[in-house]
Amino acid sequence: MQRRVILEAPAKVNLHLRVDGLRPDGYHDLLSIFCAVSLADTVTLRRSGPPGSLRLRGNVDVPAASNLVTRAVEAFRAETGIRDGVAAELRKRIPVGSGLGGGSSDAAAALRCMEALFEAPLAPARRLELASRLGSDVPFFLEGAAALVEGRGERVQRLGPRTDFALVAVLPGVAVATADAYRWLDADRAAGRRGAGPRALTRDEVLAAWECGVAGHWGLSNDFDGPVLARVPALAACRDALLAAGALEAGLTGSGSTVIGVFAGRVEAEACRRALRDRRGGLPPGARPVVLIPLASLPAICYNRSMRICQGEATHGDNGYSHQEGRG
Ligand code: C5P
Repeated sequence: MQRRVILEAPAKVNLHLRVDGLRPDGYHDLLSIFCAVSLADTVTLRRSGPPGSLRLRGNVDVPAASNLVTRAVEAFRAETGIRDGVAAELRKRIPVGSGLGGGSSDAAAALRCMEALFEAPLAPARRLELASRLGSDVPFFLEGAAALVEGRGERVQRLGPRTDFALVAVLPGVAVATADAYRWLDADRAAGRRGAGPRALTRDEVLAAWECGVAGHWGLSNDFDGPVLARVPALAACRDALLAAGALEAGLTGSGSTVIGVFAGRVEAEACRRALRDRRGGLPPGARPVVLIPLASLPAICYNRSMRICQGEATHGDNGYSHQEGRG
C-alpha cells in the first residue's frame, strides 16, 4: 500500500534565553523557554526506491547530504536497521539561519515520520538521544508546544502552552551565524561588558513568569540581545521599530537573526504588521514582518494516500521566502 506520511514542522521562538558557562564540550549551558508557533515547514515521506536509498526534493537550497531531514532518516536507519528506500519532500517556509529552529524542527518531524511510516516507534529515551545528536534544539520539537529547555537543549521540561498572546517576527533578511553570536557574547563577557540588560532570572523566576505572568510583561530577556544588536545595527533597528509599533517586549529569538515582539493578541499583532509593512515603520530594507501565533500543541501526523491537501494544526501562509523548486 502506497501512503504518505505528512507532518507540519513548526518554527519556535525563545521567549527567554539565558546563556550560562562554556562547557568542556565547547557548548554553553542554556536556560530557555521555547514556544512552537504557527509558521511551519512541511515534511512528507513515502517508501520509494531500492533499500538504503533516499531521495530528497523540495524547495531547499542546502545540499541534500547535509540536510537535517537526510541526517534524521539515516539516524533512524542506523538505530532500527530498517533500510527501505525513502522519498522525502521538504517544503520550507521557515527562513534558514533565522533563529526560528526550522532545520531542527524538520529533523524532529522526519524522525517522527519515519517511525510512523514504518510503524516502528522508538523508545522515548532512544528517540531523545537520536534527536539530541542531530542538533541541540531538536529534542524540543518531539512533543509539546512549550517547554523549559536546559543544558545544551537535551533537558526539556514540558510546560502548559499559553495562547493568550501573539507575536510579530521581523525577518530581517540577514543571517547571524550561531557560532558568531556565541563568540560575541563570550568576548563581551570576557571584556566585562554584560550589557545594560536586566539581572539574570533564576529558573524558578522564569517558570513563574511563564506560568503566572501577564503576557508581554514577563520580564523575560535574551542574553544575545546585547552582543548581537550592538554588532548588527539592522537588527537593533528592527527591535526599535517593533517597540515603536506597540510591542510590549521585543528582542532576538535564539541567537538571531529574527527579532520578535510580543502583543496582547492577534488583532494587535496584525495592526503592528500592517503598520510596519505599509509605512515601513523604520524597518531596514529587506526586513519583513510576519504574525506568529503560539501553538497549543504540536501538529499531528497526517496519513494521505491520494495527495489531497492535508492540513496540520499549524495554519500558516507562505512567508514568501522563495527558493527554486526541485533543488537540493
Ligand atoms: O547547535 P549548532 O551546532 O548550530 O551551534 C553552532 C555553534 O554555536 C557551536 O559549535 C558552538 O560554538 C555554539 N553553541 C554553543 N552553545 C550552544 C549551542 C551552540 O556554544 N548551546
